[in-house]
Amino acid sequence: MRSRIIGTGSEVPQKIVTNDDLSKTIDTSDEWIRTRTGIRERRVSDEKTATSDLAFAAARKAMSAANFDPEKLELIIVATCSPDTLFPSTACILQSKLKASSAAAFDLSAACSGFNFALSTAQAYIESKMYNNVLVVGADTLTKYLDWSDRSTCVLFGDGAGAVLLEKTEEEKGVLASYIKAKGDGGNHLVMPGGGSRDPEEKSGRFIRMDGKEVFKFAVKALEESVVKVLEKANLSLGSMDLLIPHQANMRIIEHVVKKFSLPEKKVYVNLMKYGNTSAASIPLALDEAVREGRIKPKDIVVLSGFGAGLTYGSNIICWG
Ligand code: ACO
Repeated sequence: MRSRIIGTGSEVPQKIVTNDDLSKTIDTSDEWIRTRTGIRERRVSDEKTATSDLAFAAARKAMSAANFDPEKLELIIVATCSPDTLFPSTACILQSKLKASSAAAFDLSAACSGFNFALSTAQAYIESKMYNNVLVVGADTLTKYLDWSDRSTCVLFGDGAGAVLLEKTEEEKGVLASYIKAKGDGGNHLVMPGGGSRDPEEKSGRFIRMDGKEVFKFAVKALEESVVKVLEKANLSLGSMDLLIPHQANMRIIEHVVKKFSLPEKKVYVNLMKYGNTSAASIPLALDEAVREGRIKPKDIVVLSGFGAGLTYGSNIICWG
């Protein structure tokens, strides 16, 4: 038994913040941000919008693309590190908004790797025949947790959500293999210190703190390893990959992998210039755009690869259709 994607959807806030906008309030420039990251602009949610609002819009689009009745949904997994509240989970809030009254629902925390971890979890539930269908959403509003005076982090992130609806299939398509890993020893390189049980009063700050150089070194190795390993697990060669959708964090990290594997431009999907790093939303948002642009055809081999806080990383390989 496998799981195949029968619908995709995504949502970003309306408000666009360009690099030039940022250069009016902090000591940075469009040139610095573009050459170091590839990012040109990002979407920023307003005060009234929480993660579940973006997740709901993306989920509705995925369900409508599949012409699927929410009442039939059996499980909802929301990958997020910026939930609406510590509890109830964002997945339960989404379940209520979708009126998916039969579904179980829970959140999964693996930061920017969250969508790949959630997809692999959904695949395991379907493969074990516990559920026949699963809605997987990656959604984050990390702009709410940025120190807007810290130029080394605030230029990198944006908000968004992406969703996929999975259904069981007995055919040789869908999620062919998953490879997910964690390196907790490196967790201190990318931290949101305040707000958890270690510091509920947020004395240490409620903002993203990152050692960019350490994360960069980890990311290039993680991306490389997880692409190789997931191809190995699926018993496929690099040449059989039709499209790589990497986590949209930094163009230089993606370029490293492109160079390492000598990948032609058309085999790598990139949209980070428009959105920045949208954390758990990054890969499903890119996947949805690639589907809607006709970049993915039935039987295409698509590899989704990411990395994030934890530290975490991983890939899923999909035979489309
Ligand atoms: N504008 C202008 N100058 C800047 C900016 C900025 N926005 N940010 C940093 N600088 C300065 C620094 O202060 C430094 O100045 P100095 O030499 O006078 O000290 C100089 O630019 C170089 O800084 P570096 O940190 O060495 O720049 P680097 O080339 O490493 O790029 C970056 C920084 C873009 C953050 C890079 O390290 C990176 O992309 N790291 C990976 C980040 C990432 O992918 N995070 C994923 C998070 S996933 C998740 O789970 C949330």
